[in-house]
Amino acid sequence: MAPRIEKLLIDGQWTEASGGETFETINPADGSLLAHIARATAQDVDRAVAAARAAFEQGPWSRFSPADRQALLMRLADLLERDAEHFARLDTLEMGSPIRHTRGSVAMLVDLLRYFAGIARSIEGTTNAPSDPGLFACTVKEPVGVCGAIIPWNGPLWASVLKLGPVLASGCTLVLKPAEDASLAPLRLAELALEAGVPDGVFNVVTGFGTEAGAALATHPGVDKIAFTGSVETGQQIIRASAGNLKRLSLELGGKSPNIVFADANLEAAAQAAVGAAFANSGQVCSAGTRLFVERPVHRAFAAEVARIAADLKIGDGLDPQTDLGPLVSARQLSRVSTHMEDALAEGAQALSGGARLSGADYDQGFFFPPTVLVDAHDEMRAVREEIFGPILATLPFDSEHEVIARANATQFGLGAGVWTSSVGRAHRLSRALKAGSVWVNCYNRIDPAVPSGGVKASGQGREYGRQHVEEHFQLKSVWIDTAV
Ligand code: NAI
Ligand code: MG
Repeated sequence: MAPRIEKLLIDGQWTEASGGETFETINPADGSLLAHIARATAQDVDRAVAAARAAFEQGPWSRFSPADRQALLMRLADLLERDAEHFARLDTLEMGSPIRHTRGSVAMLVDLLRYFAGIARSIEGTTNAPSDPGLFACTVKEPVGVCGAIIPWNGPLWASVLKLGPVLASGCTLVLKPAEDASLAPLRLAELALEAGVPDGVFNVVTGFGTEAGAALATHPGVDKIAFTGSVETGQQIIRASAGNLKRLSLELGGKSPNIVFADANLEAAAQAAVGAAFANSGQVCSAGTRLFVERPVHRAFAAEVARIAADLKIGDGLDPQTDLGPLVSARQLSRVSTHMEDALAEGAQALSGGARLSGADYDQGFFFPPTVLVDAHDEMRAVREEIFGPILATLPFDSEHEVIARANATQFGLGAGVWTSSVGRAHRLSRALKAGSVWVNCYNRIDPAVPSGGVKASGQGREYGRQHVEEHFQLKSVWIDTAV
């Protein structure tokens, strides 16, 4: 079957890009062509923003009640559940993640949509108490307006649902710009949204390049809020681009998260979890635990155990249900990761497992890199300071609690942090001392619709999941009534 040509969704209509151009998306497991994707221009972004504005201000959507929005989100969740297998396969095909992983993701996203459906019904203002007894004052929450979302490739369906859910719950509208490497799931989600009854213009998808469609959306004066997930450098550009009309921003910008193992921990559980923390999705996870601090007396043995578990993982085409780790998303990402690996070796690190791109019949056409556990690493190495976004884990010995807190915090990032200990007091001390948006004690990378997630420092601002996520799509209006008049 010839690869499809995918169009943009603007105002409920599937349309070609105004410049008539497309780009290719490929399967990273074998390099095969999956589809041609419409390459949106600034003009297309303009049309999408205009449609989102019209839908927000005067379309049928502007008259949807909270109950209507809840029902819509519930329908969308049901449809996603109906098509779960299709969506899981699509993400696996386009970005390589193992099917077991993508199936789990879709199930979680169905639950997430139902969570947002609940929040849609429980947005409340306040009645306030001015000192003048003749005054009545209250606050009401109003949707912020037209939202833009710019998302990465490491979880295309995930990021799309995470941006769309709160928009629908709050009564805002959305223009979504998927990542160049992973447009298919966002486009199918848009199809599903139309089937669920999302009115025209409420959800628009403009596929295309970051520097073209992405930049046009980030600067657009008709956009009230941008939600961005991706690299720090692009995040900084989004901040600059927002200045023209002072857009509200939420930014999720990755990290270099510490995972800290004390000798008193359940070391077996910690070793298993350390592997998942660093290597799930082949390390292409914003909150990956990539700096594994281990108390010195157990460091060598622990690193060896982590490497042993990692070396047992089955690497291959994500569509194989036995696969634990799929390919990296693209040749570009493989080359980034390989460069980091070469730097780490040149700076004196040793690889206990992995260490170079996989080759051979099953691997040559794709972008496979094995899980790599480093020893003899140190805090100043580039591979320990910078986000790699690939399956490379640095193990780092430490001697005291005080020291490891300082080293864990000595980074520009602050997304997640893991702590493994059997001491309740230490668990509390570290949870407070670590500068991160989330701290996981005796677990790692847990997420739940009800629990907020986000970063501090260069890892970003704003929170996703939880009530707070939806609240960020509202602005507060204060209403005063002089009862003496
Ligand atoms: P990126 O930050 O450049 O891309 C993310 C999104 O931003 C894509 O949709 C892209 O088209 C868009 N974009 C790029 N330039 C833009 C601009 N000037 N204006 C508006 N939108 C723009 O990330 P990329 O190049 O895909 O990956 C580079 C590195 O970023 C990775 O190796 C990883 O370290 C990090 N990253 C972090 C993610 C996270 O979840 N926090 C996700 C993806 C990447
Ligand atoms: Mg691809």
